[in-house]
Amino acid sequence: METLITKKQGSSKNIQNLTYSVWVLGCQQNYSDAERFMSVLESLGFKKAPENEASLVLVMACSVRQHAIDRILGKARQWNKIKRDRPLQIALSGCVLPSDKPKLQNAVDFIFENNEIEKLQNYLSKEYALKPITEFFCNGTQDLFKIDPQYQSHFQASVPISQGCDNFCSYCAVPITRGREHSRPMAEIINEVKSLVSRGYKEITLIGQNVNSYGNDFSTRNKRPFDSAQDRQKTRNNFVHLLEALNKIPDNFWLRFISNHPKDFSKELIKALPTLKKVTPYIHLPVQSGSDRILKAMNRHYSVNQYLKLLFALRSQLPALTLTTDIIVGFPGETEKDFQNTIDLFKKATFDMAYIAKYSPRPGTAAARLADDVPPQEKERRFRELTKVLAKIALENNQKIVGTIRTVLIEKVTKNGQLFGRTRAYKNITLSGDASMVGQFVKVKVTDCYAWGLSGKIISKL
Ligand code: 5AD
Ligand code: SF4
Repeated sequence: METLITKKQGSSKNIQNLTYSVWVLGCQQNYSDAERFMSVLESLGFKKAPENEASLVLVMACSVRQHAIDRILGKARQWNKIKRDRPLQIALSGCVLPSDKPKLQNAVDFIFENNEIEKLQNYLSKEYALKPITEFFCNGTQDLFKIDPQYQSHFQASVPISQGCDNFCSYCAVPITRGREHSRPMAEIINEVKSLVSRGYKEITLIGQNVNSYGNDFSTRNKRPFDSAQDRQKTRNNFVHLLEALNKIPDNFWLRFISNHPKDFSKELIKALPTLKKVTPYIHLPVQSGSDRILKAMNRHYSVNQYLKLLFALRSQLPALTLTTDIIVGFPGETEKDFQNTIDLFKKATFDMAYIAKYSPRPGTAAARLADDVPPQEKERRFRELTKVLAKIALENNQKIVGTIRTVLIEKVTKNGQLFGRTRAYKNITLSGDASMVGQFVKVKVTDCYAWGLSGKIISKL
C-alpha cells in the first residue's frame, strides 16, 4: 500500500517524554481515524502509554449526542488540573459541531480536522521542539486514507471506504461535522484488505456512514461522462463491485460492512449477497422510526412498508441473517401513536438487536429548529418500553440458535475469565477456553442463550 508516513522511528532527539494516549468516543469511523492519527504520532517519535502517564492525550470527539461533548468538557477540566503537576497536551479531533467549537477550543490545547494532518504535525513539532526531519512528515497530503494505520488488533480491522455523508437526515450532525461523502478509490481499499488478510487478519469490516452509496461521487469527482444508462447503472452498483472484488481474495476471512441506508440498499446488492461467500450474514439497517410521518420529518426517504419489504427480501435471501437497527425515540412531534407504530414495526421486523437513542437536538441541523417537545421522562419511558419489546424478540430469536453448531471468532478474555467472541452472523457468545484462542476461529455448539447473546462449548479449532 502506498504510505505517506514511514514507520521509521527517531524523528527527534527524545529529550522529553514523548508518549500519547487516545480516547475515542462514538463510532467506528472515529476509531479508524484514530488508528491513522496514531501513525502520525508514532512517526514523530511518540510512544503509546496509559492515560495517566502520557504527555499527550488525543481525544476523538463525537457530536451525535450532546452527552459525549459534555463528557469531554468534564474530562478536560480534570486534565487542566493535572497540568499543574506535569506537562500535558490535549489534542482533539473527530466530529465537532461549529457551535461546540469555541467551548472545546477553550478546554483543550489544539483542535484539528481529519484532513489537517500537517496541522497536527506542525503543532506538535513546535510544542515539543521536535527537529523536523521532512522524510518523516506527510508530504503535503490531506488524505487520511493514504496513511498506513496502527491497527489496534492483530485479527480484526476496520477499513474505511468513504468519509462524510450526503444524506442530511434532519437530526444528524454528521453531514455538518464530516462534510460531503467522499469515496475512497476501490484499488486502495482492495490493497488494504489484501495486505491485512495476508498478515492473518480474520475479520475485515468495511466502514462508511452509508456504504450503499459508495462510489456515487466518483462520476462527479472524476467528471467522467456517461454515455449510456447502463454506465450510470454500473456506477450505482459500485458497492457490489467492491464486495465482489474483495470476495475473490483467497484467504479465510470474514467480510462485514456498516452502516447501511435503506433508501440506497440496491436490488443488485440483495441478489449478490448470497453469492458472496466471504460476506457474513449480518446487516445493520438503521430504520430510525416506525412512523411514516416521523420518517418524513427525519428526511429518510422511505416508508415503513418499503423498509419491511427490504428487510423481508434480505431475510428470504439469507436465512441465517442477523439484523440490527438504530432507532431514535422522542423525535420532535413524536406522539404516542407514532411510538406505538415503532413498537409494531419491532414486532414485525424481529430485530436481533437495536441501538435505541433518545433524541438529542444538535445545533445547526434541520430538526434543531423544531421544538424538542417530548419531555425527558417520556423519552426515557419510550426507551424502556421499546427495550423490553426488543429483549423479548431478541431472546426468541436466540432460542432458535440453541443446539446448533456455529463458527466463532474469539475476540477477548472477559473480566471473569471467560472467552468472548462473535458468531459469523455477529451474535455475542461466551465460552470457556484459554486465552491462546483469542484471534482464532473455532467451531462451537450453542448451549444456552439470553436476550443479548449466547453461550456455548468449543468443539474444535478451525
Ligand atoms: N439524537 C439521538 N440519536 C441520534 N442519532 C443520530 N443523531 C441523533 C440525535 N440527534 C443516532 C441515529 C444514528 C446513530 C448513529 O445515532 O440512530 O443512526
Ligand atoms: Fe447521519 Fe443520516 Fe448520514 Fe447516517 S445517513 S450519518 S444518520 S445524515
